[in-house]
Amino acid sequence: MADAEYGRPMMTPDIAIRHVRIADGSGGSFVEGDVEIKGDRISAVGSARAARREIDGQGQVLSPGFVDVHTHDDGALLAYPGMEFKLAQGCTSVVVGNCGSSAIPPADDAILGSMNRTWSDLDGYFEAVARSGPSVNVMAQIGHNTVRRAVMGMERRAPTRAELASMRGLVEMAMEQGTSGFSTGLIYQPGRYSETEEVVELTRPCAEHGGVYNSHIRNEGELLFEAVDELVHIGAEAGCSCHISHHKAAGRANWGRVAESLDRVDAANAAGGDITLDVYPYTAGSGPMYQYFDPSDIDRTLGEAVQIAACVDFPELEGRRLVDVAAETGETIESIVHRIITAPHKERTICVHFIIDEADIETNLRHPLMMVGSDGIPNLKGRPHPRLFGTFPRVLGRYVRERGVMELPEAVRKMTSLACDRFGLVDRGRIVEGGFADLVLFDDANVIDTATYDDPKREPDGIAAVIVNGELALEAGRHTGVGSGRPLRYRRDD
Ligand code: ZN
Ligand code: CU
Repeated sequence: MADAEYGRPMMTPDIAIRHVRIADGSGGSFVEGDVEIKGDRISAVGSARAARREIDGQGQVLSPGFVDVHTHDDGALLAYPGMEFKLAQGCTSVVVGNCGSSAIPPADDAILGSMNRTWSDLDGYFEAVARSGPSVNVMAQIGHNTVRRAVMGMERRAPTRAELASMRGLVEMAMEQGTSGFSTGLIYQPGRYSETEEVVELTRPCAEHGGVYNSHIRNEGELLFEAVDELVHIGAEAGCSCHISHHKAAGRANWGRVAESLDRVDAANAAGGDITLDVYPYTAGSGPMYQYFDPSDIDRTLGEAVQIAACVDFPELEGRRLVDVAAETGETIESIVHRIITAPHKERTICVHFIIDEADIETNLRHPLMMVGSDGIPNLKGRPHPRLFGTFPRVLGRYVRERGVMELPEAVRKMTSLACDRFGLVDRGRIVEGGFADLVLFDDANVIDTATYDDPKREPDGIAAVIVNGELALEAGRHTGVGSGRPLRYRRDD
C-alpha cells in the first residue's frame, strides 16, 4: 500500500554492491555485475537499483559468506560476541558443538570453562546467544562427550540401560529444538570409553530428525581406516548422514593415507552412504594436551611435535616448542610432558602438534565433498593455533591462488553452498534473489592469512567487506559491531 502510494522510496534497496565478480556459491564461473540488498535478503543479482548505501566493489570477488563448519565457538559466542577472529576471515556462520563437546546440556567445563550458565537446553542457549548479539550466525550440534559427562560423569564403562535412555533423551530433545545433529570425539575422554553400539543408539534420534552424525573419528593415525569403517557402520546402522571432522592421517608413518581413506568414503557413498568431510589447511593440529598423552607411557615422538598454545600452570611455556625447552634446560621431553599433563589445571592446557603432511592437505582440499572447518580453539589469552584467525583466507590465498589446488569458484562452493546444504542453513550459501544477504567481498589477488604459529592473533589481508543478514559487519578492515548474526535452527525457522 505504502509502496503504491509513495512509489520508489519504500522500494529503495538498502545496499548496492557494484562492479564485482560474483562467485555465487554454485561452483560455476564468475558473473560480472552488481548485487542488491533489501532488509536481510538479496533483492537482485546482476544489476542493482540506486540504493541508500552504494559500495564500489572495484572488480573484487563477491561470494556468499563463508561457513566455518568445524568450530569450538560455543562459549566464544557469549564471551566474544564480536567474533572478530571469524568475521575478519569472511565467515558469516559457524557450526558449534564439534568433537563431541557442546554447550548443551551445560555440563562441559572443557568447552565452557568457568563460564556462568543460564540455560539448560538449546532454546535457552540460543536465547543467551541472541542476547549477546553475535556478529555471525550459529548452527549448533549436541556432543556425545558432553551428554556422557552429564549422565555418567567420567566413567570408563558401558552405560546401563537407564543411562543410555537418559543420553538418548538429551539427543532427542536437542534435535527437536533444532540442532543439526549429534557429534562425537571418540579419541577424547569420556567418549573413547564408548563402544560402537552406544554411539549407534545415540545416533538414532539424530537420524530420525534427518540430522547429521559428525565425528572426530576414533583414530586418525595407524587405525585411520578402521575408524572410517566404524563411522560408515554407524551411519548404516542408524540410517544417518555422516560427516568426518578434520580428515587427516596423523603422524609421519601415516602420511599419504588420506587418499585411501577418501577412497573408502567414496566407496561407502557409492554403496548408498551419505558421507561428507571437512579439513583445516594446516600441518598442525591443536587441542587439550592431556587428552593426547598417557601419563604412564608418554609418546616421545608426539611430545617432540608439540608447541604450547595456552597453559595456566606454566605460562612461561606458551608459544614454545617442547624440543627447544628440552634443549635449553636438559629436562627430557617425557618429563616436561608429564609435568604439564598432571598439573592442577591440566584440562586447560592447549597444545599445537605438528603431525600432518602438506600433500595430504591438498589431497583433502581437492575432494568434491570436502568443506573447510577451522577447528580453531578460541582461547585468546595464550597463543592459539593460527587457524583460529587464518583458515579461510589461507585456503583462498595459499591453496587456490599460489598452489592452484582448485579453481576459486569451486573453493567458494566448498566453503558456502556445500556447507549450508549439509548443515541445514536454509536460504544461505548462494547468491540468489531471495536468499539471505550473508556476503563477503574480497580481493582474490591479495587475500591471504597473516597469522603464524609465533604471532597467531593477526587478522588476514584482502577481506574488503563482510555482510551478515544484510548488515555491514566489516568494512575496510573495521568491525562495525553491528551484531547481526542469528542462532539458526536446522531446517526450520531462521
Ligand atoms: Zn576434533
Ligand atoms: Cu574440533
